[in-house]
Amino acid sequence: MKIELNENKVYFNSGSSKKEIHPFWLRERVDGEEFLDKGTQQRLFDPTTLSNEISINTAIINEKFLEIDFNDGVKSKLDIDKLALEFSNEDTVIKSIPKIKWNSTLENIKNFKYQDDFFDSKEMYDLLVSFYKYGFVIIKNIPTDNNFIVKFANSIGSVRRTNFGEFFDVKSKPDPNDLAYTSLGLSPHTDNPYRNPVPCIQLLHCIESEVTGGLSTLVDGFTVTEDLKKENLEFYKILSEVKVRFKFIDKDVVLEDWSELIKLDDDKTFKQVRFSPRLDYVPMLDKEKLDLYYKARKKLSEMYNSAKYRIEFKLSPKDLIMMDNYRLLHGRTSYEVKEGNRFLQGCYIDYDSTEGKLRHLKRKFNL
Ligand code: OGA
Ligand code: ZN
Repeated sequence: MKIELNENKVYFNSGSSKKEIHPFWLRERVDGEEFLDKGTQQRLFDPTTLSNEISINTAIINEKFLEIDFNDGVKSKLDIDKLALEFSNEDTVIKSIPKIKWNSTLENIKNFKYQDDFFDSKEMYDLLVSFYKYGFVIIKNIPTDNNFIVKFANSIGSVRRTNFGEFFDVKSKPDPNDLAYTSLGLSPHTDNPYRNPVPCIQLLHCIESEVTGGLSTLVDGFTVTEDLKKENLEFYKILSEVKVRFKFIDKDVVLEDWSELIKLDDDKTFKQVRFSPRLDYVPMLDKEKLDLYYKARKKLSEMYNSAKYRIEFKLSPKDLIMMDNYRLLHGRTSYEVKEGNRFLQGCYIDYDSTEGKLRHLKRKFNL
């Protein structure tokens, strides 16, 4: 990527193409101290109030800087490397971490260990990169007193509070308002598909585990949907087109949201899965369409529940798992209450937390 000049016009040359950069785009990026606040990096002027007739009187390249005199009297010195970072038109930090597809054969994935000064460390950066690669990460040695999970969440970003509270205790309780609060097994599901927006990331922290059952299970929804696309495009298509209603009720609230089980991005790539057969209501469609839909959903469910895709492991006290609720499905095997206590604490955070922290650490360590 190279900046080139020709008759008071500025071009960027990508090697394969050469395009003129709009003078207004450059004028908006003027960053002298009267134009940009040094500390916040926020603009001190409002570009929407500038004339649309901005043009360039003179432009020169002086080593790493592009020096421009604009026709409104403003003189600027723009850092070429900084400008070049914007040419890709997309987030270069999170998107540059490739998702690694995995199934039951996944092994040797690195666990992290909590220690002093953890949250601003290079270890934390590595943890977040691993999280974006695999959709989950396990951290050991997390203190179990005083609902430490909330401190953990708030040290990465901010807890996403819901009607279950800032955090929730997952243990077998009398009169539960969710099957998670029983000792029943939970088949692979995503959490809270009925919320708008769905919480992005779930944290589960093991406080007590005295039972032989209650193993944690994970499935990579990204792998499963990519495989479904290869195996049965018709099923994949209908599951990514039909919106179903997800619903949760208790005595205080009625939550409802509509979504496809496989949600694609604008560019038709994977965005999110929602799956919770206890909570979904398929709309009334033509009988033929529903016929196909039910076959497709059954196939997807069989894949999610198949041993081919599932990893199973036991969380020990002080272990915390952080998982991407848009990508992974999680569940647990059943356990016997009479064997002893099983007690996890859970909470949610959103992507702004992990993305903000990751970009900050990348900046801090010059990575
Ligand atoms: C949940 C859940 C799993 C477990 O609370 O959302 O899925 O291991 N719990 O108890
Ligand atoms: Zn759950």
